[in-house]
This record gives sequence, structure tokens and C-alpha cells, in this order.
Amino acid sequence: MTAVTNIQDLRAIARRKVPRAIFHYADRGSYDEATIRANRADLAAIALRQRVMIDVSERSTETTMIGEKVALPLAIAPTGLTGLFHGDGEIHGCRAAQAAGIPFTLSTMSICSIEDVAGAVDKPFWFQLYVMRDRGFSKSLIERAIAARCSALVLTLDLQIQGQRHMDIKNGLSVPPKLTLANALDIALRPAWALGVLMGKRHSFGNLTVRKESDSLTTLSQWIAGQFDPSLSWKDVEWVRSIWPGKLILKGVLDVEDARIAAGTGADAIVVSNHGGRQLDGAVSSISALPRIVDAIGGGPSEIWFDGGVQSGQDVLKAVALGARGCMMGKAFLWSLAAGGQAGVAQAIEIIRRELDVSMALTGTKDIRKVDKSVLAL
Ligand code: GLV
Repeated sequence: MTAVTNIQDLRAIARRKVPRAIFHYADRGSYDEATIRANRADLAAIALRQRVMIDVSERSTETTMIGEKVALPLAIAPTGLTGLFHGDGEIHGCRAAQAAGIPFTLSTMSICSIEDVAGAVDKPFWFQLYVMRDRGFSKSLIERAIAARCSALVLTLDLQIQGQRHMDIKNGLSVPPKLTLANALDIALRPAWALGVLMGKRHSFGNLTVRKESDSLTTLSQWIAGQFDPSLSWKDVEWVRSIWPGKLILKGVLDVEDARIAAGTGADAIVVSNHGGRQLDGAVSSISALPRIVDAIGGGPSEIWFDGGVQSGQDVLKAVALGARGCMMGKAFLWSLAAGGQAGVAQAIEIIRRELDVSMALTGTKDIRKVDKSVLAL
């Protein structure tokens, strides 16, 4: 087997290891996928500035995100259905992230529950909240995150309704996954996945099992349409703020006006994101929105983070250069989890850490905390 040297190698392994519907859930975007492509293309179009003959023998990628020490400015993004990529995937992902010194975010739409993960790891993790139609249930999720000693709440703003992902519908993606005539061969060719996930203990939404709707076999898009709340507004952010006592991160801001409002809530961090090109197709790339948002609210108390196409250390360096305090990675995380479980995620983080370290050296940079626009060839 050829050596795994980058995130794309892990993606290729993931494609072989998990059924097509699961792979596409992570890999693809909404509608014509213009925004998911723009996320990557616009990152790739940014040039780094090569510098030479600067002593870079001592380098550090360490910094903080919302006051938490991180080995590099990177956190695992909340991703739905993580435990369908690998049995107990959320636990494996969280363990790998914590061992590597970066934060892990558990999604509301996870397969392992908040309590499953809290019982399996030693350090606090972050919990991502979707405020659903049933506010009482949303409140109970916050209370469970408090009881599990989660150290931050990541509130997602950009999924009041779901952007259509054609492939999820064509593939009949459902939770729990169902064995059909159409996918029988696909699953039969992936016995390790079937053993770990289908035969494993957990294959439905772990946080939602108290809700009877979550038991029924339904496609993911139908389920989201029934549970998610199009009436959400900034008032709900205030409501969450009033119940959640800890650090609050608002994820999914792409517009300067929204960024100003988000900053006005006193959030500890705001994540510039278009949900990985999975929501509004035709929206600008996340990296092109970042500098405008930094200009508007960069001096304020909220940290600005970046998500949308992060698949290498060079990507992290570019986002930090444009003013992001940290980044989140979603797809790269799921690919690595599918490819190799906990070891795969550890490998992905280490690949990105090394790429960041080397890219810093080759731009004459020693300390990630001092990186600014001067590392870019603008
Ligand atoms: C859920 O957050 C998704 O993007 O599928």
C-alpha cells in the first residue's frame, strides 16, 4: 500500500471503507455544489510568501482558542452522523483530538450521545446545539451538556432549514442506515464497516433517542424538515445565552451585517462558515468572507474562527494570516475517521500540524500567534 501523506489519501481510503451514501454525506455539498467548490478553489488561489535565510529553528504552532490551549489553531467541527463513519466514531474522534491537544465538538446529530462520549474521555469537549422546534427538548440538551461538563457550546446559526443535498436523496440516506436491495452489494463489499457500525451498539441519533420520532426509519432530509425550526431568530441566541453559563461559539456567519449582530451578543467566538458548502449554494466562499468580517468586528471581544475547506496546514496558515484565531475541520475529520478510526484522526491532525509547521518555516514565521497578512503574497 502506498504511504498516506496527505488528507486526500485518507479521503481515498474512506471512499473504499464506507458505503456510498455515508461517503457522499460527508463529501458532497448542496445543489450544484458551486459553494463547496469555491471554498477549496478560493483557498487554493491565495498565495503564500516564500521567505529565505531567516533562522526558523525554533517554531511553535501553539495558541489558544477561547482561552483553551491548543497544539495548533484547529478544532474538530461538529459533524452529524459521525458514528456511522466508524463504530463509536465520536468517542474515537474525541480521544484522538484530545490526545493531539485540539478541541473536539460533538454534534447534536451525533450517533454516540453526550453521555456516551463524556463517559469515555477524561477531558471536557464542546457540544454543538441545533435549536429544534421543541424548545423544551433543546433546553434539555443544554442541561445535558452542562451535566457532562462540556467546556463550550457551539450554536449553529445556518441550518434553520436544510439546503438540498442531491446525493443524500438519491442515495436514500437514512438514520439508522437501512439495508435495501439497492445498497446490499455496497454494504456486502464493506464487511468491516457493517460489523463495526451496523452490528455495533449505536446506529441512530444518540442524543435524540428519548424522542420517538428518532426511532422511525426515515430519510435524513425528511427528519430534518420535521424537527428543525425555520422561525429561529437572534432572540433564540439570547435565550440560549440565558441558559448556558459557559463559553458560547456562534457558527455559520458569512455576512458582515450578521457578524456585527453576532458580535453584539457577546459570543466568545464567531465561526465564519457556509456550513462547508452544504447549505446556501451560490453563497460566497468562506475564505473570501473572512477578511471582510475581520475588518468589521476584528477588534472586538469575540474571536473570529474559520471553517470551509480546511484540508491542510497551508489552509490553516492562510486563514490565520487573514485574521482567524482558529479553524474547524469537518470533512477531513470524517474521512480520517472512516479511514482509520482513532488512529486515522490522529494521523490527519498530525499531517496538518506538520504541514503548518513546515509552511510557517518556509514563510519565515516562528510563532503562529504572530502570523499576519505579511505571510501572504498579496
Ligand atoms: C448537518 O449539520 C449537515 O450538514 O448535514
